[in-house]
Amino acid sequence: MDPAPLLDAFRQQFHDAPAFLVRAPGRVNLIGEHTDYNEGFVLPMAIEQAVWIALRPRADREVRLRSLDYPQAAEISLDRLEKGPGGWVEYLKGMAWALEADGRKLGGWEGLIRGDVPRGSGLSSSAAVELACGRAFAAASGLDWDPAAMARLAQKAENQWVGVNCGIMDQMVSAAARRGHALFLDCRSLEYQHIPLPAGRVVVILDTSTRRGLVDSAYNERRAQCEAAARFFGVPALRDVDLTAYQSRAAGLDEVTRRRARHVVSENGRVLQAVAALRRGDADAFGACLDASHASLRDDFEVSNQALDTIVAIARRQPGCYGARMTGAGFGGCAVALLRLESAAEFSAAVASQYRHQTGLTASIYISQPGDGAGLVNAA
Ligand code: GLA
Repeated sequence: MDPAPLLDAFRQQFHDAPAFLVRAPGRVNLIGEHTDYNEGFVLPMAIEQAVWIALRPRADREVRLRSLDYPQAAEISLDRLEKGPGGWVEYLKGMAWALEADGRKLGGWEGLIRGDVPRGSGLSSSAAVELACGRAFAAASGLDWDPAAMARLAQKAENQWVGVNCGIMDQMVSAAARRGHALFLDCRSLEYQHIPLPAGRVVVILDTSTRRGLVDSAYNERRAQCEAAARFFGVPALRDVDLTAYQSRAAGLDEVTRRRARHVVSENGRVLQAVAALRRGDADAFGACLDASHASLRDDFEVSNQALDTIVAIARRQPGCYGARMTGAGFGGCAVALLRLESAAEFSAAVASQYRHQTGLTASIYISQPGDGAGLVNAA
């Protein structure tokens, strides 16, 4: 997104340039799905689409933030944080609450917010809002920026203030990503490494345009099944079960829990294989991991849908495609594919038209370069 209109609007409203301009990106997960809350491995990357805030500090403890995308504006006092009816303002309040509960002394600020992360499609627009607000508070209050600590607080805001029981992946990648790289993250220790994507390849995001209600309850049900499986194996989290341990004992689990556990155990292994493939520049092996991940999410974890299966099958048939899978929580939303760069334009046109033909639905397709995590941008 070009921040110029946001800066112009700021100058118009405040008759001055902002003291800070911050941005925090959305994300797409390349592989490692439903592994974060099992304390396993993930490999997401930040996308170019992001949430931006132009701001200046205030002398009091008020925060005034106007959205250029929504009619709703935020007028909050840091001394009286109360949950409201919902909307993006709750992410702002949740961040303020989590930061203060962690002992950070916050000052007030005022400004404007605008973003271009598609909403509700599984590209983590909510994590982008949380991290943008976190970065704004850090800038206005002179706090150090520690990506992992901020991501943890953003996750806490989402879990306890907004009431969505997500893992740590989305907030971590929005906080800590690096341009040109995917983020290989250990969701237990929060240690991470930036892994370059191979030259001459691009990531393509395929939004099926399907959304299913009840995603939250299905997500919570999967989490509970994973926790039950971990208890059965006598470990803190499924991260601690490897394939050999799984195979020797899984027969004692009921059929559904067994398949849920098999997805998580095998997916953790696939993330490690995918990272090794990226390190040796082996796009074919990486693509094979994507394909196997989709099958596991569809058959064992059962979080795909017809539209995702269809778009993944269409994508794989196209020349230059190394592999494809559903991405994010599932039940609709987006798939992701790795592609030879020179095939990208033709690929997008072919997938869009075949998908429309087969389903009657319109896909949105984004060719995406890995972007930077949350940060300050020079507003001059
Ligand atoms: C959602 C959650 C993440 C993660 C994914 C599934 O995006 O926010 O924490 O659990 O689903 O991998």
